[in-house]
Amino acid sequence: MKKSTTAAILLVFYIFVLCPQPGIHSLAPPSDVRDFSYLKFVRNATDLPLQEEYDYIVVGGGTAGCPLATTLSANYSVLLLERGDIPTTYPSVSTVEGILENFMLEDDGTTPLQRFVSEDGVANVRGRILGGTSMVSGGAYSRADSEFYKKSGIKLDMNLVNKSYEWVEDTIVFRPNVSQWQSVVKDALLEAGVRPDNGFTLDSVEGTKISGALFDNLGRRYGAVELLNKGHPKNLRVAIHATVERIIFSSKASDPSAKGIIYNDSNGRSHWASIRGKGEVILSAGAIGSPQLLLLSGVGPKSYLTSLKIPVVHPQPYVGKFMRDNPRSNIIILPPSPIVPTYSQIAGFTSDFDIESISGTPYSSQAYSIFPNPTIPVTINSSFGFFMVKVRGPILSHGSLKLQSSYDAKVAPNVKFNYFAKEGDLSQCVSAMGKMRDLLKTNALKPFKTRDLPGLEGFNLFKPSLPMNQSDDASFCRDTVATHWHYHGGCSAGKVVDGDLRVTGIKALRVVDGSIFNSSPGTNPQATLMMLGRKAKKPKRKSIAAASAVGMVASLVDFNASPSLSSQSFEPPFPWPTEKSIAYGFFLSVNGKPSVSR
Ligand SMILES: Cc1cc2nc3c(=O)[nH]c(=O)nc-3n(C[C@H](O)[C@H](O)[C@H](O)COP(=O)(O)OP(=O)(O)OC[C@H]3O[C@@H](n4cnc5c(N)ncnc54)[C@H](O)[C@@H]3O)c2cc1C
Ligand SMILES: *[C@@H]1O[C@H](CO)[C@@H](O)[C@H](O)[C@H]1NC(C)=O
Ligand SMILES: *[C@@H]1O[C@H](CO)[C@@H](O)[C@H](O)[C@H]1NC(C)=O
Ligand SMILES: *[C@@H]1O[C@H](CO)[C@@H](O)[C@H](O)[C@H]1NC(C)=O
Ligand SMILES: *[C@@H]1O[C@H](CO)[C@@H](O)[C@H](O)[C@H]1NC(C)=O
Ligand SMILES: *[C@@H]1O[C@H](CO)[C@@H](O)[C@H](O)[C@H]1NC(C)=O
Ligand SMILES: *[C@@H]1O[C@H](CO)[C@@H](O)[C@H](O)[C@H]1NC(C)=O
Ligand SMILES: *[C@@H]1O[C@H](CO)[C@@H](O)[C@H](O)[C@H]1NC(C)=O
Repeated sequence: MKKSTTAAILLVFYIFVLCPQPGIHSLAPPSDVRDFSYLKFVRNATDLPLQEEYDYIVVGGGTAGCPLATTLSANYSVLLLERGDIPTTYPSVSTVEGILENFMLEDDGTTPLQRFVSEDGVANVRGRILGGTSMVSGGAYSRADSEFYKKSGIKLDMNLVNKSYEWVEDTIVFRPNVSQWQSVVKDALLEAGVRPDNGFTLDSVEGTKISGALFDNLGRRYGAVELLNKGHPKNLRVAIHATVERIIFSSKASDPSAKGIIYNDSNGRSHWASIRGKGEVILSAGAIGSPQLLLLSGVGPKSYLTSLKIPVVHPQPYVGKFMRDNPRSNIIILPPSPIVPTYSQIAGFTSDFDIESISGTPYSSQAYSIFPNPTIPVTINSSFGFFMVKVRGPILSHGSLKLQSSYDAKVAPNVKFNYFAKEGDLSQCVSAMGKMRDLLKTNALKPFKTRDLPGLEGFNLFKPSLPMNQSDDASFCRDTVATHWHYHGGCSAGKVVDGDLRVTGIKALRVVDGSIFNSSPGTNPQATLMMLGRKAKKPKRKSIAAASAVGMVASLVDFNASPSLSSQSFEPPFPWPTEKSIAYGFFLSVNGKPSVSR
């Protein structure tokens, strides 16, 4: 073998095997100036025509919807519809301090965090702002785990998946400056045996790691909204204060096809937007919003829809089913001296659970859904180190989503998750509590005790906390269950959508968001959601990416049957809907209530 060949082999070996930071490409560059160029696409829905036509319509300007709309806009005209406001209206969505402030903002119907109580009685929230839940999340960014790729039921080309993640990460993901409390957490996890030490990685692998962050080192939040900056200037239109009420279908009952959507602006005026050629309607309204819209539009369990007098467009028994939420347990240390507030930067990840931590200073207004009780405000008097323990799943217990209004999309549906209905979820939680006991015995956490006592004792723990008797851990898990906010399902892959995320039995309709998941990907789902949006296709067999995000699903949805590439954006509204095009389905009568037209 020639020397140069040997050298080349060694170099390749070095690059792929020994390279100090495998798998980490460049992240978002630090910058003093924020890029708000996405604002040029944005219009108040009140200023948009009452009828319009596009290649693609994306419903929900959230974590998955923003990257998806941007990706499609490279080649097609796209309308992205978001019911909420723009992030610049609410300063709290742009800063790290704002994480907690968002939970304190009283929900007035337009604020970025919409509150809801599941039928389990647990306080929960979801995003209502351009950028979606990524703008109010904890900001921790992790790619999906390998099990997820194997079992998601979504067709994924791993090369495209990785390219899509990178596309997201180049713009909005940062390596955090690990704070003092977070390095204590890291040491404690390693000492308690959550190994190996994976250093900084965006992957979800077993052990302890420093996660990616949607915050830069000046404490500013980035999110899915920034991915709109890459939109095609002529092809992308973003409507805010646009509440999509239902999907419109045409053609015979035996062969339904999505034709467009109806949305209302803030003056209560109805707008029609239709798709042309081989375009599609894509739902990215989230795990609550997307199943709700399918049900309102007549796609769902037949007898259920009939009981609500919603005309059945396509019977689909699983819409709104398999709603799952990962349970969270809280172990909160009140230390003898203050800890500097930090967001979650470290994750300890095992087959059963995920342990993360935040720290903070005393607060006196209720931070809704931090604690499970929706009615009794719980505040914390002292500085705190807050361990959030997530039952990893795949969550076995599931519940369903039911409409509260059979015609008004603004009325939130009822959701039930049935936490711990299945024993397997409980045993994961008990296993996590065992690890928390190990954690509290570590040298790393000793300085945070108020009294110098051995083992578990000596901590001032916020009540209710880890029981003294380990055999009470299961009831502790059940009695104190909160949400980890990673709820998913409702349009499950393999049940409601196929591997290409098409709603089965309906043409030109897909779902790309957290509602398609059968399990929550990785330590946190945002990355996967943003990744998912990024893929599309050339007229003949070439993939483009359509970025979406259920955590920023960067996986690539195959937009096989691409539109006819008319690519003329914003043409004059075409004369639609007509009697013929809504031959089956229903239209809004003057008072907004659906009336059947068969
Ligand atoms: C408090 C909190 C903290 C979290 N922390 C993290 C974290 O640190 N890391 C992580 O990875 N994940 C985190 N998550 C989870 C993650 O943020 C979500 O799973 C993810 O953002 C969901 O993305 P999505 O695209 O499915 O939906 P969303 O991002 O919620 O997007 C749905 C969008 O659709 C809009 N919409 C809904 N209905 C309609 C309609 N009828 N008409 C028009 N628009 C509509 C909504 O307003 C919203 O903007 C957190 C979640 C919460 C709530
Ligand atoms: C949108 O337009 C309506 C009607 O002109 C107005 O009342 C509303 O305040 C506008 N909203 C925003 C955010 O500009
Ligand atoms: C994708 O990236 C992961 C790291 O996140 C790496 O382990 C994997 O080998 C990559 N796969 C491909 C096909 O590039
Ligand atoms: C990182 O943290 C250290 C210690 O808290 C601080 O001195 C430094 O300025 C930080 N760097 C950045 C870029 O934030
Ligand atoms: C939507 O608009 C229609 C028509 O203007 C109106 O009748 C209806 O009440 C509106 N619905 C909602 C939920 O605002
Ligand atoms: C908080 O402090 C007040 C007095 O300052 C006290 O009455 C209350 O019990 C404290 N609450 C907790 C949870 O420690
Ligand atoms: C813990 O609880 C179990 C079951 O209730 C009981 O049998 C046991 O004695 C308790 N242990 C201690 C140390 O109290
Ligand atoms: C889509 O647009 C990109 C860049 O704008 C271009 O490279 C690609 O060829 C286009 N694909 C199709 C199908 O037109």
